[in-house]
Amino acid sequence: MTEHNHEANDGTRHDTERGAFIVLEGIEGVGKTTQMAVAEQALKDAAKSLVCTREPGGTAAGEALRSVLLDKDGAPLSLEAETLLMFAARANHLHEKIRPALNRGDWVLCDRFTDASYAYQGAGRQLGVARIAVLEKWVQAELRPDLVIILDAEPELALTRAKNRGPVDRFEQESLDFFHRARQVYLDRAKAHPERYAVIDASMPLEAVSQAVAATVAGFVHQWDQS
Ligand SMILES: Nc1ncnc2c1ncn2[C@@H]1O[C@H](COP(=O)(O)OP(=O)(O)OP(=O)(O)O)[C@@H](O)[C@H]1O
Ligand SMILES: [Mg+2]
Repeated sequence: MTEHNHEANDGTRHDTERGAFIVLEGIEGVGKTTQMAVAEQALKDAAKSLVCTREPGGTAAGEALRSVLLDKDGAPLSLEAETLLMFAARANHLHEKIRPALNRGDWVLCDRFTDASYAYQGAGRQLGVARIAVLEKWVQAELRPDLVIILDAEPELALTRAKNRGPVDRFEQESLDFFHRARQVYLDRAKAHPERYAVIDASMPLEAVSQAVAATVAGFVHQWDQS
């Protein structure tokens, strides 16, 4: 496939017979990374050829940008610079890894994606969701995740989990208000697009959250394979 055709892919499924794109989202400490393994197992059980990845990161340049973005002792970044670096990492991730995988029919499972930019930069840091939407359109064209699983919990609980896990990053130092705003945007986006979003109560014990994630992924696979 030429570069031109590759980038022209508008991301809709029937255009390409591409694989499905699944994202785990939610504020710090809700259990995204923990549940990546559960979702991965559910997709392997369904015999899907799978690429697991994360944001910010997922490529060599993206992981370098991740350090710049998350290192709490790193140089300060303006809000605009932070947002653009997130999308720079995302552009590289889409170009190098996500689109090629989807186009060859693999499924992609990603720990965070653009909903995190809406939640953190758009709402948490109050850049406004309209600015994020402009970058989303520019960097992704029509490509959107086919399923976003939002792990939802009170910031007080999620941040306690994150802090008990180990040293905090740049975002984990933010105020409770920041995370209340971020959580609300995740929930608003799920409500606006119920066909693409699933919200799971992440305050439940680990085993119950894992069961809910596995069931959501299995239900999605069934629906995708039927259509
Ligand atoms: N349902 C749960 N009940 C109790 N503890 C949990 C649960 N899920 C995850 N944890 C624990 O909470 C901590 C945070 O989980 P995890 O690292 O998966 O969160 P995360 O959403 O990836 O966080 P971050 O946004 O910082 O990457 C870990 O120590 C994990 O073991
Ligand atoms: Mg994580």
